[in-house]
Amino acid sequence: MAESESKFPPRRLGLSDVYVSPVAMGCWPIAGMTSLEVDDASSRATLREALRCGVTHFDTAYCYGAAGESERLVGECLRDARHAVTIATKGGIHWNEQGERVQDARPATLKRQCDESLQRLGFDHVDLLYLHAPDPQVPIAESVGALAELLAQGKTRSLGLSNVSVAQLEEARQVAPISAVQPHFNMLQREVEDDLLPYCQQHSISAMVYWPLMKGLLAGKLPREHVFAPGDGRAKYPMFQGEEWQRNQDFVDELRALAKELGRSVTEVVINWTIQRGGITAALCGAKRDYQIRESALAMRWRLSQDQIAQIDRAIERRGPIATRAAV
Ligand SMILES: NC(=O)c1ccc[n+]([C@@H]2O[C@H](COP(=O)([O-])OP(=O)(O)OC[C@H]3O[C@@H](n4cnc5c(N)ncnc54)[C@H](OP(=O)(O)O)[C@@H]3O)[C@@H](O)[C@H]2O)c1
Repeated sequence: MAESESKFPPRRLGLSDVYVSPVAMGCWPIAGMTSLEVDDASSRATLREALRCGVTHFDTAYCYGAAGESERLVGECLRDARHAVTIATKGGIHWNEQGERVQDARPATLKRQCDESLQRLGFDHVDLLYLHAPDPQVPIAESVGALAELLAQGKTRSLGLSNVSVAQLEEARQVAPISAVQPHFNMLQREVEDDLLPYCQQHSISAMVYWPLMKGLLAGKLPREHVFAPGDGRAKYPMFQGEEWQRNQDFVDELRALAKELGRSVTEVVINWTIQRGGITAALCGAKRDYQIRESALAMRWRLSQDQIAQIDRAIERRGPIATRAAV
């Protein structure tokens, strides 16, 4: 996308010299761990389409894939465009031989995982390195101390923390400069607006939000009668079950009507609303197909008016708080 066509130019990550597109590609679905029908050819096409559509920030992690499948694909597909993109990865979570998720953010583990991530990506540095989540067994200052060493060694250009509270962020900032946080946030899950987002705005820290499409619900294409196929990771979340599902569909119906009136897709409306929200630097939009990231990227080409935003905010209020579950 030509620069002039974008209504949302790249944004600065905290006080660093890293810039990110407000619509970024979330590279969890291409790991194929919870998304169905993932194959390398479609994943490559999705990454290339993201670039073509003006997406210049890509979010992956050490644990996206049992053996780093996401990082490998990101490295392979973005190698030729390395100068034009910024890449984030995360350390501190991995899968053991039994396929169980293990949280380990000891300093030695974080340093080893960073080296492995760089090897998989085929790059000598990333632009943003996150602690994926604080490890309850390790003081956060120790984990962040390791990240600070990696920053000093030039293995990353900036640091971030995912899934943290304000207290943990404050503690971490005593040890190293933190440019970004990564919490979940979408129209129906806005807890971070109470404390984390205001704190980040006050201290010039970027919020890079995950689940902007509520794992696909807010893409508006899952019909009310949808039955999740066995193995679809979404079925386990309360938001996709029973009464919550019905109420979420009532809400999405309101978005469908507005999108139709605007001649846009529901995805575009949702992402446009998200990247206009105060304190949010980028929406990490998960995708496993090229048309999905194309739709999300279109949200950078126009703006909802203040009246339209207010209309959406009233619909969110009518929906009320949702039953949620801590992510990670
Ligand atoms: N830090 C953390 O702990 C953490 C946790 C979760 C995620 N993340 C990051 O945030 C990113 C976003 O989260 P996410 O991928 O789980 O959820 P998401 O962005 O809310 O939803 C992505 C899913 O929505 C569906 N979708 C996307 N665009 C669509 C379109 N145009 N039309 C129809 N369906 C569409 C696809 O699902 P289907 O095609 O399968 O229907 C896609 O896999 C991740 O990829 C990852 O980079 C970070």
